[in-house]
Amino acid sequence: MSIRFNKQKKQFVINTKHTTYAFEVVMDRYLYHTYYGKRTSVLPEPAYQLISFAPYIAGYDESRSPDVLPQECSFYGSGDFRPNALRLSGDGTGVSDFVYHSYRIYKGRTALDGLPAARADEHTQTLEITLKDDVCGCCLKLYYTVFADVDVISRYMVIENVGDGKVKIEKCMPLMLDLGRSDLDMISLYGSHCRELNYQRVPLHHGTQSVYSKRGASSHQYNPFVALCSHTATQEKGEVYGFNFVYSGSFLDEIDVDQRGHTRVLIGLGSDCFSYTLGCGERFCSPEAIMTYSSAGIGKMTQNMHDFIRAHILPPAALAPHPVVLNTWEACYFDIDEQRLVQFAKQAAQTGFDMLVMDDGWFGMRNHNRAGLGDWYENKQKFPDGLASFVAKIKAEGIKFGIWVEPEMVNPDSELYRAHPEWALRVNGREPLRSRHQLVLDMSNPDVLDYLTEQFDRTFQGIEIDYFKWDMNRHMSNVGSSVLEADKQGEIFFRYMRGVYRLFDWFAARFPNAVIETCSGGGGRYDLGMMQQGIQIWTSDNTNPYDRTMIQASALIAYPAATMSCHVSNPHENLRSLDYRYKVAVGGMLGYELNILNMSEEVKREIAAQITQYKSFEHLMRAGNYYCLAAPHAYDYSAYYYAASDGTELLLTVIEKAGNKKTKTKRLKMKAANPAKTYIECQSNAQYSGAELRAGLVIDLACEQDSAHLLHFKAL
Ligand code: GLA
Repeated sequence: MSIRFNKQKKQFVINTKHTTYAFEVVMDRYLYHTYYGKRTSVLPEPAYQLISFAPYIAGYDESRSPDVLPQECSFYGSGDFRPNALRLSGDGTGVSDFVYHSYRIYKGRTALDGLPAARADEHTQTLEITLKDDVCGCCLKLYYTVFADVDVISRYMVIENVGDGKVKIEKCMPLMLDLGRSDLDMISLYGSHCRELNYQRVPLHHGTQSVYSKRGASSHQYNPFVALCSHTATQEKGEVYGFNFVYSGSFLDEIDVDQRGHTRVLIGLGSDCFSYTLGCGERFCSPEAIMTYSSAGIGKMTQNMHDFIRAHILPPAALAPHPVVLNTWEACYFDIDEQRLVQFAKQAAQTGFDMLVMDDGWFGMRNHNRAGLGDWYENKQKFPDGLASFVAKIKAEGIKFGIWVEPEMVNPDSELYRAHPEWALRVNGREPLRSRHQLVLDMSNPDVLDYLTEQFDRTFQGIEIDYFKWDMNRHMSNVGSSVLEADKQGEIFFRYMRGVYRLFDWFAARFPNAVIETCSGGGGRYDLGMMQQGIQIWTSDNTNPYDRTMIQASALIAYPAATMSCHVSNPHENLRSLDYRYKVAVGGMLGYELNILNMSEEVKREIAAQITQYKSFEHLMRAGNYYCLAAPHAYDYSAYYYAASDGTELLLTVIEKAGNKKTKTKRLKMKAANPAKTYIECQSNAQYSGAELRAGLVIDLACEQDSAHLLHFKAL
C-alpha cells in the first residue's frame, strides 16, 4: 500500500519508491503538511509558532493561524495571506473556507472530465480528501494519485456545488506544496518562437516568483515545468523537487517565499484566464499537476519525469519506433502539388524514409499564409485528381503518408470565415487582432467542433492517413465567444482546451491507425497535455544545429527524447555539414526537411546511411535512460548519453560549438556502464571495459566547426 491513514494521529502518509509525503488533520479542520522528501518512517510532528498579525479561529491563538500553517490547500479570504490555491464565492466576496470532512483510498484512479490525465497501472492508488464549506454550499475534493514506481504524485481537485445558489470559481491551483525552507534555486524554461526552452536557474527570493501563460497555449514563452533544488545541487547530488501541469492552455506556476522564509508552490489555472460558474448540482474538475522529489540530484528528478511520462502520459504508439519522415515544409513551403510530391515520395522511399509528410499548403486557397485556414478540402489546382488518388500514388511508392492540419484556426480570407465570422473568438464591438493573418476558432462552441469533424471526415473518407501533424500558430487575444452568456465568458480559455482535447479524441477514434505529431509554431505547446495526444512534438521551428543543441538539452531536463521531433534541415544557408546536423538531430526522433529533388546521389547515400545507423540505436533514445554530462548552457560543448536500462548499450553524443578557444581533453564518465562487461564501439570496433567507460572515456575536442562525436557501445 503506498497510501496509509493513521487514525489516531489523523495522519495521511504516501510512500513512493524513494519518497514520502505526509500531512495531518489538525484542529479538526486544517490539513497540515508535515513532510515531502526522501523516504522515511520518522515523520516530524506539527510545529506551531506565534506570529503577530495572524488571524485565527476563536478558541485558538496566532500560532494556529492559517497564515502560518503549512497546508495542503488554502482559500482566499480565510486568514492565509499567502497566494492561495482557491478563490471561490457565491456571495461576491471571493471568500471561502473549507473544513476537512472525510477521506477515501482506492486502487487506480477516476477519469478527469474530458481532460488529459496520467494513465493508471496496476500499482496506481488514489487518496480522495473531502472538505466542505457550508456557507458557500460547496464540497471540495482533493485527489492525490500515486505512481509509486516512478516517484510521482499527481494532484487535481473537484468542486461540487451542493448548495442552492450559483458559485463562481475565480482561481484554481490544484497542486499546492508548502515547504518549510527557501534555501532553493528555481529552474525554469523560458523563450520565444524559434528560441524555446532556455534554461534559467536563480535563487528564490522573498515575494512571489512565477512562470505563466495568458496566451491560451502553454506557450514558447514559459514552459509549465519548474523545479526547485538546493543551491549546491548538481546532476548527481542535492535535493530537487520537480513540478509540471498536464494541460496545454494558459497556466500559472506561482512560487512564494513568505515572511518566515517558507516556500509555497502552486501549480494550476491561475485567475487571469480562468473563472468558472457552477449552477446548483454542477461540478468542476481541474486539470492535474504532478510533482516528484529526488535526493540524488537533478539527473534523478529528470529520470523520474522521463519514466513517468513514458509509462503514464505518452500514448503506447510513442513507445514503438517513430517513423523517419521527410517533411515538405522547409523544402517547399506552399509550393506543393501532386506531381512534385509524388517525385518526393519516390526518392524518399529509395533513400530509406518511412514516410512523406505533406505540410501546409494542400487545402483551400492556401498558396500563402494569408488565406485558406478553415477550408479543409484539397486544392484542386494542386491535386486535380483528388486527395485519394494522390495518396494512393504516394503509397504505391512504398512509403507512408502524413498530412498537416491546423484545425483550431481560420483565415479571414476563407470560405469558412465568410460563412461563419461568429465562429472566431472575438469581443463584441471590437475588431479582432490578427496574428500570422489568422484568427482563433471558438473551440468552446459545439457547432465549430461539428463542422470540423464533418469536414475532416468527408475530406479523408476512404484515405489511409498514417500521421497527422497538428499545428497551432497563434495565441489568443480579444477572447470572447458568441455562444456563452456574459457571466460565462471567463470560462472560454478552459472550455477552449476541453474542446481541443475532444477533437483530439475524435481524431484518435476516427483514425485509429494514425499517429499524431503535435506542434505550435515549433515548441509553443511542449507540455504534458499535448504529449498525451501524440507520439512526438515538433520541438522548434529553429533547426540551426547549435541552437537546437541548447533547446534539446533544456527539453530533456523535463521531457524524454521520445517526445522530441528533431529534423535535419537548413534550406536557407547550408552552414553546417550534413553529418553535424544529423548528430544533433539524433538527440531525439529523427526526420528531415530538405528538398530531395535537388540532392546529389552522394548526399542521398549519406542520408540513407544515417537512417540505417539511426535505426540501429533509436531504441536507446526512445526507451533508454538519459544522462547529461555537460549541458551546453554551462559549457562550450554538449555531452550526454542514453543507456539501455540494463546497461548493455550506450550511445554517447558530444556536440562541439564552433569557436571554442583551444583544444580540450574531456573525460566523460558513463556510470550506467556495467563494470563486469566488455563493450564494443560499433563504428570503430574498439573494445572498452565497463570499468573504463565508468572511469571516463577520454575525448579530444577538435574545437573546429562541425565537430561532433557519436559513439555506440554494445556489451559483448
Ligand atoms: C508552423 C510549424 C512549421 C510548419 C508551418 C506551416 O510554423 O512549426 O513546422 O508546419 O507552421 O505553416
